Amino acid sequence: MAADNNLRTDSLVVAAGRPPRRPGAPVNPPVVMSSTYVGADWPSGDELVYARYDTESWRPLEEAIGALEGSAERALAFGSGMAAISAALSLVPNGGTLVMPRHSYNTSLVAAKEHARLRGIALVEVDIADTAAVTEALDGADDLVLWVESPTNPMLEVADIAALAAAAHEREGIVIADNTFATPLAQRPLALGADVVVHSVTKYLAGHSDVVMGAVVADDGELWAALKAQRDVHGAIPGPWEAWLALRGIRTLALRIERSQRSALDLATRLEAHPAVAEVRHPGLASHPQHELAAAQMTGFGSVLTLRPRGGAAAASEIARAVRLWVPGTSLGGVESLIERRRRIPSEPVTVPEDLLRLSVGVEHVEDLADDLFAALEASQR
Ligand SMILES: Cc1ncc(COP(=O)(O)O)c(C=O)c1O
Repeated sequence: MAADNNLRTDSLVVAAGRPPRRPGAPVNPPVVMSSTYVGADWPSGDELVYARYDTESWRPLEEAIGALEGSAERALAFGSGMAAISAALSLVPNGGTLVMPRHSYNTSLVAAKEHARLRGIALVEVDIADTAAVTEALDGADDLVLWVESPTNPMLEVADIAALAAAAHEREGIVIADNTFATPLAQRPLALGADVVVHSVTKYLAGHSDVVMGAVVADDGELWAALKAQRDVHGAIPGPWEAWLALRGIRTLALRIERSQRSALDLATRLEAHPAVAEVRHPGLASHPQHELAAAQMTGFGSVLTLRPRGGAAAASEIARAVRLWVPGTSLGGVESLIERRRRIPSEPVTVPEDLLRLSVGVEHVEDLADDLFAALEASQR
C-alpha cells in the first residue's frame, strides 16, 4: 500500500510498504516463492509475468525506499549495492564523461574504470569537496554524468550536492548520488537536485549485516524505465527473502540511526581530545573541513568516523586486533560496531592513509564502546 508520502521519514520507515488495510489482512507483506505467474493470453500490462521483471516480494520494499527518498516512482531493488551501481553506471553514454569522487567507495571506482575502458568513457576523478574544481571538471564535457558520494567512503569528504547538481544540469548532465552513508533519514539527494540515488541496502537500510542488497531510485520516468530495462536484461535481482528482511530492517532505521549517530559524535569528540590520536574525522565535528556544509545539507552527521592513531599503520592494526566488543571487519551500517584499517583492502585508493581506521558505530551502549576502544587505543601505544 502506498504510504502517505507527507509523513516524516521517521514515520515512513514504519508505515511504508504495508499490505492494503482490511480486517484480517496481515500487517506485513508475504514472501512469495514463485519464479513465474499464471499468464493471460491477452496481457493487460498490469499483471506480474515473471520474477526477474517484477514480484510482489520486492514491491513493498521498493515503495518504502522510493517514499523515503521523496521519489514519485518506487525504487528498483537489486541483488547488491554494486549491482545497483553497475545499473546506474550504464546511464553514462558510450564515449561520454563520468566525473567521480577520487574517494568513492573503492569498488564503485573499479566498476567505473571498467565502464571507461570498455565503452570509451572519459573518467575524471575529483576531490568532491572542492566545488570549484569539480565544476571546472564538468566544463566542456560531452554526455556528462556526475557521480556524487557524500560523505565519501572512507574519507568522509562532504560534497555540496545542490551546487554541484546545478552545475551539472547547466551542462545537461545527469547527477547520480550514492546515499548509503547518510541514508534518507539524514540526507535526501533528490531534493538537493540529484536525478538518481543509489544505495547499498546491505548497510543501514537492512541494518543487521544479514542481507546483501541494493536499490536505485529515480524520480524521472525515463531514467526509471532505463534502469528497469537494465535490470530486466542483466538480471541482478534480489531474492524474495532478502527483500523481506531488508524491509523489516527499515522499520527500525530511525531508532538505529538516532542512537548510532549520537554515539558516533560522542566518540569522535572524546577521541579528538585523546593524546594517542593523530586525527579523527567526522562531519559532526567542528574541526571537519566541511562541517558547516554538512550541518546545512544533512539532518544528521552519519554514524561513521575515521581515526588515525599515533604510531601509524602498526598501531591501527593493533587497535583492530585488540578490540573485544567492536568487530574487526569490513562493511558498515549494522547494529554491531565495526572497525577496519581500510588499506588492508588492495583496491583501496593509495591516497587513503595506511593508518586510517574506519569505524562504523552501531547501537551498543556508548560507554561499552568507549571502554573497549580506548583500552585498545592505549594498548596500541605500548
Ligand atoms: C558507499 C557504498 N556504496 C556501495 C557499496 C556496495 O554495496 P554492496 O556491498 O551491497 O554491493 C558499499 C559497500 O561497502 C558502500 O560503502
